Amino acid sequence: KGGGSRAGLAFGAIAPQPATQDAFTVPDGYAWSPVIRWGDPILPGGRALDLADQTEAQQLLQFGYNNDYLDLMPLDDCKGRGFYNGRRQEFSRKRGKGRGKDTGKPRSSSRKALLVANHEYVNPSIMFSPTEDPAVLSEQRRVAMAAQGMAVVELRRKRAGQPWTYQVSSDYNRRIHTGTAFDVSGPAAGSPLLRTVADPSGTTILGTLGNCAGGTTPWGTVLSGEENFNGYFRTAGTSAGDARYGLRDSATSGGWEHEDPRFDARNPGYENEPNRFGWIVELDPYEPDAAPVKHTALGRFKHEGANVCLSADARAVAYMGDDERFDYLYKFVSTQRMLPGGSKKDRAHNKQLLSSGSLYVARFSGTSPAEEIDGTGTLPSDGAFDGTGEWVPLTIDGVSQVPGFADDEVVVLARLAADAVGATKMDRCEDVEPSPTTGRVYVACTNNTNRGKTGQEGATEVNPRLANRDGHVVEIAEDGGDAASTTFRWSLLLVCGDPSRNVSTYFAGFPADRVSPISCPDNVAFDDSGNLWISTDGQPGTIGLADGLFKVPLEGAERGHVQQFLAVPVDAETCGPVIHQDDQMVFVAVQHPGEDGTVAAPTSTFPDYVPAGATAPAGAVAGPRPSVVQVWRA
Ligand code: FEO
Ligand code: CA
Ligand code: CA
Ligand code: CA
Repeated sequence: KGGGSRAGLAFGAIAPQPATQDAFTVPDGYAWSPVIRWGDPILPGGRALDLADQTEAQQLLQFGYNNDYLDLMPLDDCKGRGFYNGRRQEFSRKRGKGRGKDTGKPRSSSRKALLVANHEYVNPSIMFSPTEDPAVLSEQRRVAMAAQGMAVVELRRKRAGQPWTYQVSSDYNRRIHTGTAFDVSGPAAGSPLLRTVADPSGTTILGTLGNCAGGTTPWGTVLSGEENFNGYFRTAGTSAGDARYGLRDSATSGGWEHEDPRFDARNPGYENEPNRFGWIVELDPYEPDAAPVKHTALGRFKHEGANVCLSADARAVAYMGDDERFDYLYKFVSTQRMLPGGSKKDRAHNKQLLSSGSLYVARFSGTSPAEEIDGTGTLPSDGAFDGTGEWVPLTIDGVSQVPGFADDEVVVLARLAADAVGATKMDRCEDVEPSPTTGRVYVACTNNTNRGKTGQEGATEVNPRLANRDGHVVEIAEDGGDAASTTFRWSLLLVCGDPSRNVSTYFAGFPADRVSPISCPDNVAFDDSGNLWISTDGQPGTIGLADGLFKVPLEGAERGHVQQFLAVPVDAETCGPVIHQDDQMVFVAVQHPGEDGTVAAPTSTFPDYVPAGATAPAGAVAGPRPSVVQVWRA
């Protein structure tokens, strides 16, 4: 099996695809199919999606909308046990090397797995027909509230390397949505800043919002980032915090404030409701009845996601980006060490690791003179965008290190605290992930078209382009090879773009005429050979090409050789890449296909591809559906 298992997945790069085509494109020799689509039933009583008859009650029983983060977790033999035994061996082997991230992937022998997906947001204009009827509009909003959050779905298959089938009925199947109760941990649990009239204790929060990327922990849970939460709230908009987090006194586009008073924080008793979002949440897919948790120790900002590895002494280290122009890169280091066993007691201990620890923000320095960073992306005379950096503490073991910020304020208003310590303004940090083979950390800076605009910061060595349209990828090596280090070295791995039309691109020194064009890096993943995989969000608007998934070797002569593996349909971004080299499979979440269309005039019919005017076969619908897709060797 798998001739590519040593060098990685074997494939020939696909040609760049036009942004206008409604096609899912894979390399020669590969095939694809949806694993699960928006509206597929996953809970008892759930029906197939009917675009003409959508209800909140049905959506709560169906797979949600706009899948983003994605992982497949092993389920064979275990309810966790075989899985955690497997992890213990892995953990022991890597202990002390600062390389603790075990990807915990199902093996090629696996016949059962759990799929975990985020549902980031909704596209009402392609989900619903326009309406003037207040009752219909209200139900549409309720469907939207039910379609966001997360999902857990059991998968099965008969043979290795073969596609998976989702189980309509499984005790593990679960929907997390706007009404799901979350526990709260960390320095802001119970804080007056989190209390509302509906939750006077500040310890139980309903719902999760804007769940973008995430990460699977070494102890077998899933972290999910609450990203653009601000857009769901109408607020007074008068405080420094409101201003810094983009919370305004204006009607929201989704109109949820008309369905539930907590989404209008001007209502007495709900002033703090927006403080209850913008966190990293942890979900244990192996415990279907356990409440998910919001971890306030990891700070509140527009969390893209969080990826955990272990320090040399086995503490949990979470890397996190704040996806906003000129915002920051963060790291959390737990107070306690991970226990390597898979026992119930060890798992309970490990699920507390993110409740207490130290929160840091990154400050970067460059090696080259400022005058050599001219904003065009031209390499400085030393031949590299590179330098050193430090992790500046906002908290140490939960205690604020920032004058003027109490222990709860420093995490609730983490952006303001990070401003106060002079953190480095980045070009929108999306996924930040440590390599499981080298421990080096990769930061996808997706773009920042405002860099250098009037009143804004100009080019710096770590963000070297003015009006950065195409983004770049930062590579970080922690000093001493220990993820808990407070100092690091860095260099730019990629300065993205289409090299045939843009001279300010850089591919770690690899010849630019041999790479696939790439723009707006967003999610990252690794294969078992240590290659980086990057999915993109925004290529149609920058280099006029469909978004896709790209492989980039990080070592040897092939370092920097960007090769496109797949492309997604019109208007879609590529999310949640998962690479199973063992059985030569790739999984992606295709988010917002046909986003710029309408129900009456769709731009995409992915993935059912029902011809216009034809009657949709059973289970299919006429319009586009965000879907999880699997790709395998045909
Ligand atoms: Fe939801 Fe930062 O992308
Ligand atoms: Ca330099
Ligand atoms: Ca993203
Ligand atoms: Ca993005």
